[in-house]
Amino acid sequence: MSINSHNDSFQPPAPARDLRIDSCARGAAVEFLYDGRAVRAHAGESIACALFAAEVRTLRRSPRTDSARGMFCLMGSCQECVVEVDGRRVAACQEQVRAGLNVRSGTGGGTR
Ligand code: FES
Repeated sequence: MSINSHNDSFQPPAPARDLRIDSCARGAAVEFLYDGRAVRAHAGESIACALFAAEVRTLRRSPRTDSARGMFCLMGSCQECVVEVDGRRVAACQEQVRAGLNVRSGTGGGTR
């Protein structure tokens, strides 16, 4: 018995670009760089959410195992989402996007 056996019309999740709610108020469209790639977002979104919407899942590599790390808690506790923003190490889930930010994938451990 599968977890979806009660619903034969199960559909896989929509791509991240379809997850934004069109009817809600949001900040102005902005663009920032992630590892040199232009990413479109809306002012006020967290860097983590903007990257998720841009289908970026790996935000850093584990310094010990080189495994991919990304968003986990989304509340600043786990430090899995640490990236570099204009040379500062920050939790991507706690930092808002702004036009012109230069974000680089993280290296090493957390911010603490
Ligand atoms: S996802 Fe846990 S600190 Fe950002």
